[in-house]
Amino acid sequence: MSAPHDLAIRGGTIVTASDRFRADLGIRDGVITDIASRIEGAKEEIDATGLMVLPGGIDAHVHLAQPTSDGTVMADDFASGTRSAAAGGNTTVLPFAMQVKGTSLRDCVTAYHAQAEGQCYTDVSFHLVISDPTPQVLGQELPALVRDGYTSFKVFMTYDDLVLNDAELLEVFEVARRERALVMVHAEGHDAIKHMTRRLEEQGKTAPYYHAEAHHQIAEREATHRAISHAQLTDVPVMIVHVSGRDPMEQIQWAQKRGMKVHAETCPQYIALTRDDLKGLNMDFEGAKYVCSPPPRDIDSQNAIWEGLRDGTFEVFSSDHCPFFFEGSDGTGKDNPRARTSFKWVPNGIPGVETRLPILFSEGVSKGRITLERFAALTSTNPAKLYGLYPQKGALVIGADADITLWDPAREEVITQERLHHGSDYTPYEGMQIKGWPVRTILRGQTIVLDGVVLGAKGFGAYQTRGTSGAMA
Ligand code: URP
Ligand code: ZN
Ligand code: ZN
Repeated sequence: MSAPHDLAIRGGTIVTASDRFRADLGIRDGVITDIASRIEGAKEEIDATGLMVLPGGIDAHVHLAQPTSDGTVMADDFASGTRSAAAGGNTTVLPFAMQVKGTSLRDCVTAYHAQAEGQCYTDVSFHLVISDPTPQVLGQELPALVRDGYTSFKVFMTYDDLVLNDAELLEVFEVARRERALVMVHAEGHDAIKHMTRRLEEQGKTAPYYHAEAHHQIAEREATHRAISHAQLTDVPVMIVHVSGRDPMEQIQWAQKRGMKVHAETCPQYIALTRDDLKGLNMDFEGAKYVCSPPPRDIDSQNAIWEGLRDGTFEVFSSDHCPFFFEGSDGTGKDNPRARTSFKWVPNGIPGVETRLPILFSEGVSKGRITLERFAALTSTNPAKLYGLYPQKGALVIGADADITLWDPAREEVITQERLHHGSDYTPYEGMQIKGWPVRTILRGQTIVLDGVVLGAKGFGAYQTRGTSGAMA
């Protein structure tokens, strides 16, 4: 008689978004087939004694191989980005298929699939970015794409080549409502940022640090409130992404208290970095390593973000992995000649797909700020629900994909560039002490990373077509 399970994970503590308990877990054909106090007779066994058995990380906000308006080359393609994600305990990532202005959204999606095909170590699924909401895009392409399983898309309230005006935002929100897609909003006020940038440059304040002044929290607060108001007018759920601090968070809480369907995401840079990091060493160019939008804020904002992670204001904790080279080899890294003339030319974004989970585990779970269950909810179960992957992903239940990360809660490590698998030539978290480490990543029953060694095959990661967001329920 053949063994009932291909794999048994034995002796660990299973952690879900709502519970933790001691049990063995059985897997067959890549799917969880049993959860019981004792599972015998599997073809292969993993001893998880002393380990936490969590749903594999789902990073719902990453940028890979994205086109840029100035020709800057991203430091990660699908191979290096998903390899890095897997090493950091993730089993699924959601990058953005970005519409380049003047081009067809469908063509951009097709081209993005061609880049991903056969390259991925983790499972992937694409959000869309709407940068050119023409009648053709809103009337035909977008509805058809949502029906094909691209059930979430991002819009920007800033960046010259991406910004939508209020009329365009309202039109896009109406399509989201009609097609039952989840809109993700980058909420920073474009005109306020441009104004602040001009004034700072006039005063000769061009170092990377002034990026944090130009992208002021007030501009984020204003845009967050505007996005919420547009969502209220059009009666559509929204996801405010990469919320950086207390002021925008309070706008979100204002809406949530009134029963509006406003969801929110935050990221490691808003709990582990502050705007002072952008000073580098004595206001030098090292600060460019921390330039992202919105920028990290201050300790008060960090504390507010922790409150929001605890009380449910934030349902999703993503990396916003947006990797550039610092030096690079082709003059398009963060340290490029034009960027040295003004912070406004420093490519916006930092790498973080591999460090997201260890940072939240260490700073959150190990330091007693959040529970393990909340960790599982923020990093896997909630993103699966909100982006239409649940319960196939983000759940340790019978019938779900066996996407599992084993955590050693006692293991102490230090983040260094040397140990990471991403394409960037630096990490903004260099030297950070971590307690709690992902020791094994399992994708659909196959170990893809063991103790930092990538064992999975390039191409084993598969594209996931998604259902309707749980936000539409
Ligand atoms: O600085 C950042 N976050 N760049 C990535 C693009 C975005 O807005 O998410
Ligand atoms: Zn953004
Ligand atoms: Zn982003």
